[in-house]
Amino acid sequence: MSGFALRRVNHAFRGERVVPVLDDVSLDAAPGTFVSLVGPSGCGKSTLLRVLAGLLTPDGGEAEVGGQSTIGRPGLAAFMPQKDLLLPWRRALQNATLGAEIAGMKRPEARARALALFDQFGLTGFERAWPAQLSGGMRQRLALLRTFLTPADTLLLDEPFGALDAITRREMQAWLQEVWMGHQRTVLFVTHDVEEALLLSDRVAVMSPRPGRIATVVDAPFARPRLPSLVTEPAFVSRKAALLAALDDAMARPSLPPAPG
Ligand SMILES: Nc1ncnc2c1ncn2[C@@H]1O[C@H](COP(=O)(O)OP(=O)(O)OP(=O)(O)O)[C@@H](O)[C@H]1O
Ligand SMILES: [Mg+2]
Repeated sequence: MSGFALRRVNHAFRGERVVPVLDDVSLDAAPGTFVSLVGPSGCGKSTLLRVLAGLLTPDGGEAEVGGQSTIGRPGLAAFMPQKDLLLPWRRALQNATLGAEIAGMKRPEARARALALFDQFGLTGFERAWPAQLSGGMRQRLALLRTFLTPADTLLLDEPFGALDAITRREMQAWLQEVWMGHQRTVLFVTHDVEEALLLSDRVAVMSPRPGRIATVVDAPFARPRLPSLVTEPAFVSRKAALLAALDDAMARPSLPPAPG
């Protein structure tokens, strides 16, 4: 099992203007841990995931998954982008196997493994459905199934529940906890929801506005499985307050305007 590490990662996008996005970001996760990343919109969370996914070469710093550098090397981690990116012309089962096939798994094996997961992901009976025939929650579960099926020990999940209503979202959180407890992969989970982050994670990292840096990291040492009632316990409430205060603090620091390139 592998963890991940980011060391002093810096990046700016260059177009007509230079947009500094990541400012000396360091963050790591021991194998099998669940780490969340929260921060204001536009602070660089998705950019950071793209660096760990090996899809973006940062200006400086190091990124590793399982002890191997991801710089210029995609595929070490399974990546679920912010948009679910299901292919509308492939049925649910064929969408599910996509990541595994790209990673080199033979199609019959990928299909067999995917079918075995449909039940756990609440999608039994929808193997032959087109993405357009699935509800929002089902599409998210299908994209997650595809990510879990990708043969990698580290999962990068970019706001997987972002598009869901509050009730579905709570169901999905409980469900993800259960699935994760069964698989024990290393996870980096991006969310805007501090409570969701604390409920699911071992540690929650707070990013400042762009250029994003890690403002603080809060531990969430609660026994699992975590029940919804955990959110009212004092140890949870005080950590949630600490995270919200860290976000407020980070927001108080002025973010850099784009500079002429
Ligand atoms: N390919 C790109 N080219 C130029 N600028 C980019 C590119 N990708 C992202 N940016 C800029 O980098 C900054 C950070 O973007 P990013 O998508 O990482 O933010 P985020 O924290 O994921 O935001 P959100 O919470 O809204 O998803 C933004 O200002 C965005 O405009
Ligand atoms: Mg994003």
